[in-house]
Amino acid sequence: MEGEKYILEATGISKSFSGVNVLNGVELSIKAGELHALMGENGAGKSTLMKIIMGIYTKDGGKILLEGKEVDFKSARDALDAGIAMIHQELSPIPEMTVAENVFLGREQKKFKGMPFVDKKELNEKTQKLLEEYELSEFIRPNMKMKDLNIAQTQMMEIIKAISYNSKIIIMDEPTSSLSEKETDTLFRIIDSLKEKKVGIIYISHRMEEVFQLADRVSVLRDGKFIGCVRVEEASQEELINMMVGRELEGGYPKNTAKKGEVVLELKNFTRKGVFENVNLKVRSGEILGMAGLVGAGRSEVMRALVGYDKLDQGEVILDGKKINIKHPKDAVRNHIIMASEDRKALGLILCRSIKENIAIQNEDQFSSASFINKPKEKKVCDEMAKKMTTKMNGIEDTVDSLSGGNQQKVVLAKSLLSAPKVLIMDEPTRGIDVGAKATIYNIMVDLAKQGMAIIMISSEMPELIGMSDRVMVMAGGKVTGELEGSEAQSQQTILKLALGGN
Ligand SMILES: Nc1ncnc2c1ncn2[C@@H]1O[C@H](COP(=O)(O)OP(=O)(O)OP(=O)(O)O)[C@@H](O)[C@H]1O
Ligand SMILES: [Mg+2]
Repeated sequence: MEGEKYILEATGISKSFSGVNVLNGVELSIKAGELHALMGENGAGKSTLMKIIMGIYTKDGGKILLEGKEVDFKSARDALDAGIAMIHQELSPIPEMTVAENVFLGREQKKFKGMPFVDKKELNEKTQKLLEEYELSEFIRPNMKMKDLNIAQTQMMEIIKAISYNSKIIIMDEPTSSLSEKETDTLFRIIDSLKEKKVGIIYISHRMEEVFQLADRVSVLRDGKFIGCVRVEEASQEELINMMVGRELEGGYPKNTAKKGEVVLELKNFTRKGVFENVNLKVRSGEILGMAGLVGAGRSEVMRALVGYDKLDQGEVILDGKKINIKHPKDAVRNHIIMASEDRKALGLILCRSIKENIAIQNEDQFSSASFINKPKEKKVCDEMAKKMTTKMNGIEDTVDSLSGGNQQKVVLAKSLLSAPKVLIMDEPTRGIDVGAKATIYNIMVDLAKQGMAIIMISSEMPELIGMSDRVMVMAGGKVTGELEGSEAQSQQTILKLALGGN
């Protein structure tokens, strides 16, 4: 029987959300010890298919066989019990809890039967053991509070949590999108040991290199339809892109030919104790400054402090030659220093509100005069901006939580651009963005530079960093370890060396 070859086999899966069809007769099958990559443009239906397998969404049609037997999970709990775990694309840990409490959430060991006590010591020990086994103990500790973790550490927690169930199948929905090279290597080692243990892995990623490095087979979805499944040895990058977008794409990065003008922004002596120290930085109009570093190097933290989200212990901001004070995020917006954050939930978006409201929110004065809001204008401008970013939506009245992960990221960018920045800070701007839309965003960046904007881009994707930056600043351990220009800024080796601390 065909089904016996696979641990999991899904066929004919269909799903609609309020009348809109998002999956149509999709199939996917996994063998033990196989890494099966799932690819497709933003909004193609990848996460939705995974949530159906996990019992989070109910399917409208189709069949799922687990080890040859039909299953129909009613909740993620059911799927976990049956041996399927998932690392979600959108992380939502409980902020006040510790790492250990989050990992073992819902299955804490009770010390005394019937007593509402959790044995914290035991939880911590178990978590520590897992972290050590998978070489993650240098990144997080069991007793850290979730709210104190950065986005990469949160991702690490999710990874260890999924592994801790000893599942037969682990679904990883863009697990590396917020990890830098070092953490990514650690994850890849974990993946190897899971494969040895005969775990089947479904791996969603927009990163071609990863897929070619890791996958045995790749399945592609487009507009909710199953396009095909190929063995990686027999596939080429062009072929996969063609399957995903239905056409050929131009490769490469657009060249930033903008004239570099005056220094627009200068940071002097930026210091936040224990986080970053004595950071100096300059960026000119028309320039794209790349910031390189490992996760935890302090890049995002410097930028968060610049735009008023965190306090500085010391430091000056000079904008257009004049010293300015930024005490609050509003001060940054007023001075047209705008940050598009990678952490779209914490800083970027209000998920339960509409796309329009999210784009308009810090830009209200553009649509209002004397406390009167010009609604049609607001609608038109927001709609144009969302479309410019190639956001896949039914309309701008859709709530943001109904968008796919990559499309939420496009809304963050749309909102930032509407604020007419002088200085635009892009923190992992293409995190979770598909190959086609990436090219759009790169072209927009170059256009903005040509209009005289100064752009600071934090990126963990080395090809993007090298491809897009005019100059690269490298940080390690909260300090600037180098500034590279010209051919030096093109050398992955030089950048990595500095990112590891310089020596
Ligand atoms: N809860 C929901 N309500 C309404 N529509 C939804 C919901 N969840 C997803 N959708 C829609 O289903 C489609 C597929 O979304 P999905 O999240 O599966 O895409 P994806 O392939 O994972 O994309 P990405 O690469 O951006 O993560 C999208 O058009 C999205 O707007
Ligand atoms: Mg997704």
